[in-house]
Amino acid sequence: MDKIVVLDFGGQYAHLIANRIRRLGVYSDIRDGEIDADELRSYKGVILSGGPQSVHAKDSLQCDPGIFGLGVPVLGICYGHQVMAHVLDGIVEPGKVREYGRANVQILDAGKGILDGLEDQEVAWMSHFDQVAKIPEGFEVIASTDDCKFAGMANEKHLFYGLQFHPEVTHTPHGMKVLENFVEICQAKREWSIEKFIAAEIEAVREKVGDRKVFMLVSGGVDSTVAFTLLEKALGNERVYGLFVDIGFMRKGERDQVEGALRELGVTNLKVEDASNEFFEALREVYDPEEKRAIIGAKFIEIQKRVLGELGLNAEEWILGQGTIYPDTIETGGTKHADTIKTHHNRVPEVQELIDRGLVIEPIAQLYKDEVRKVGESLGLPNDMVWRHPFPGPGLAVRCLCSSESGTGEVVDLDLASDSDGYAVSVLPLKSVGVQGDVRSYKHPVVLSGGEKDWDRLALVGTKIVNKFAELNRALYLVGGSLEGGVELVKSYLTPERIAVLQEADKVVMDFILEKKLDREIWQFPTVLVPLTVGGSGSGESVVLRPVESEEAMTASFYKMEWELLDELVGRLAAVEGVGAIFYDITNKPPGTIEWE
Ligand code: XMP
Repeated sequence: MDKIVVLDFGGQYAHLIANRIRRLGVYSDIRDGEIDADELRSYKGVILSGGPQSVHAKDSLQCDPGIFGLGVPVLGICYGHQVMAHVLDGIVEPGKVREYGRANVQILDAGKGILDGLEDQEVAWMSHFDQVAKIPEGFEVIASTDDCKFAGMANEKHLFYGLQFHPEVTHTPHGMKVLENFVEICQAKREWSIEKFIAAEIEAVREKVGDRKVFMLVSGGVDSTVAFTLLEKALGNERVYGLFVDIGFMRKGERDQVEGALRELGVTNLKVEDASNEFFEALREVYDPEEKRAIIGAKFIEIQKRVLGELGLNAEEWILGQGTIYPDTIETGGTKHADTIKTHHNRVPEVQELIDRGLVIEPIAQLYKDEVRKVGESLGLPNDMVWRHPFPGPGLAVRCLCSSESGTGEVVDLDLASDSDGYAVSVLPLKSVGVQGDVRSYKHPVVLSGGEKDWDRLALVGTKIVNKFAELNRALYLVGGSLEGGVELVKSYLTPERIAVLQEADKVVMDFILEKKLDREIWQFPTVLVPLTVGGSGSGESVVLRPVESEEAMTASFYKMEWELLDELVGRLAAVEGVGAIFYDITNKPPGTIEWE
C-alpha cells in the first residue's frame, strides 16, 4: 500500500495532517522530525509538519538533508516550510509581524502544481513569527500575503513545495485541495480505508497481545466501546475482560444504561464495580482541577490493580486496553516533541509507566472521533452508542468546579465599559481553563448581560474583550437570573450532593436536545456547575451551558441555539432544585476549551 510520511516537529499539526492524508485514501504515518532519510525509503512522499520552534533556536529541530535526495516529492508546512528553506540554503528570519489566524493569500501560481484548482485570492490559516526571507535556489514564489512575501514556494523540477500557511485545518477552506494535489503529485494510490484500518488493526492487536489477554476499563462512551469491541473482534470474547467502574461522576442513570447496552452487544466478561464512595473520599477537600484529574487517574489504576488481584489475574498474562484517541495523545504531548498542553487520565504517570513497559494496547489511538464512529458503525454497534456525545473520563468531576474560599473572591478590575456595546459587563471571581497558543491556563470568564439577544453581536463583543485582556479567556452570557444582587463564591468541593444537582441539570439538558433533535448538530454539550451564587437568582449555585459544534475537538465553535428554544430550556433548568443563575458560554476554542477544567 502506498504511504506518505509526516515528519513531526513538535506542533499539534503532524497528526492532523496525517489524518487528512488518510481521509484522502492514502495511509499516512508519523515519524520523528529528525529521522534518518534512509528510513523513509518506503514512502511515496514526505511532509515536513509545523512546530512551535524557530529554526534558529538553540537545539531547534532540523530534518536530514538526505530527504531531498530520496527522489520523492516533499511538502513543508509552516515550520516545515522554514526547515526546507533553511536546509536548502535559503534564509529564514524573524518576521516583522506575528501572523496568527486567518490571512488573505495571493496565489501566484493558481491552477498549477500544488496550488492547482485554487483561486487567485484564498483565505488561509497562518500561525507564525519567523518567515522565509530568501527562497533557495531553484525555487519560485507561488503564494504571498501582505506580511509574508514567501508564503509559498515551489521547485517543480524536484517536486519540493513549501507553504507558510496550514492547509490541514478547516480554517483554510481549500486546504484539502492543496493536500489532494500533493497526493496526486506523489502518485500515491488511494487505497486506505476504515475497512482496511480495521483489518490491519486486528492483525496488529493479535501480534502485540500474543497469547496474553486484555483487561480494559470501559466507560460506555464511544471510544472505549469501539476499542473494546475491536479488541473482542481480534482476540475473541474469552480473552478480553471489561471492567466498568462507577466513579460517581457518571451521568444520571448511566451505569444501568451502559451495562445493559454492553450486555446487549454480547459482552460476557464484564464486571461492574461501584467505587463512587472511594472516589468522593479521595477527592475530599480537593479544589485544584489538575489535582482532581491526577487523583481520579491514580484511583482508576488502583482499582484496576485491586480488581486484577481479586480476580486472580496474573499481571504478566494481562495487558491494559485503553480507548485513547488522537486528540488525547496530541494534547498530552503524545508525540515526542509536542508541548504538553493537557494532562489526560490516560496518560497519568502510572499508565505512562505501563505504556513504557509495553503493557498497554490502544487500538484506536491513531483515529479521530469521526473515524472512531465509522469503525463503530462498521463493527455493527448501534447508532445511539456510536453517536453518543464524547464524555470525559473523569466525567462530571471536571464539570463541577470547586472553590477553596467563600465570598467575593479575587476582584479583577478591568476597564470593560468601552467595549461593552450596550451590554452590562463584569468579571466572575473564579477561573476556568482555556488554551491560548499551545498553553493551557486558568483565567477568569467575563459575563455579558442584558442588551440585545443577538449571538453574532454577543460573540463579537465577547471575543473583543477576551482578546484585549490577558486576565480573561472566556465570555458568557447570562440567560437566567440577574447579576444585580452581586456574585459570591461558595466554598465547595466534590460532594455527592453537588454532583446530584449537576446530574439533574445535565439530564434536563440532554433530554431536551434529544427531544428537540439537536443532538447531532451539537457536537458536545457540557453542563457545568460553578460554585457561585448570584443575588436575586435564588440560593442555588450557577450553571453554565456549553454546547459546541466541532469536528474533532481540536477547535470548536459555541452553538448558537435558537432563542425561543433556549428560553424553554432555561425554564426547565430553573425548576431544578439547587440551580440558581444560568449562563451560556459564548467562547470558541481557542481561546476557551470545551470543558471548563
Ligand atoms: P477540551 O476541554 O480540551 O476537550 O477542549 C477536548 C475534548 O477532550 C475531552 N476531554 C477529556 N477526555 N479525559 C477525557 O477522557 C479528560 O480528562 C478530558 N478532558 C477533556 C473533552 O470532553 C473534549 O471532547
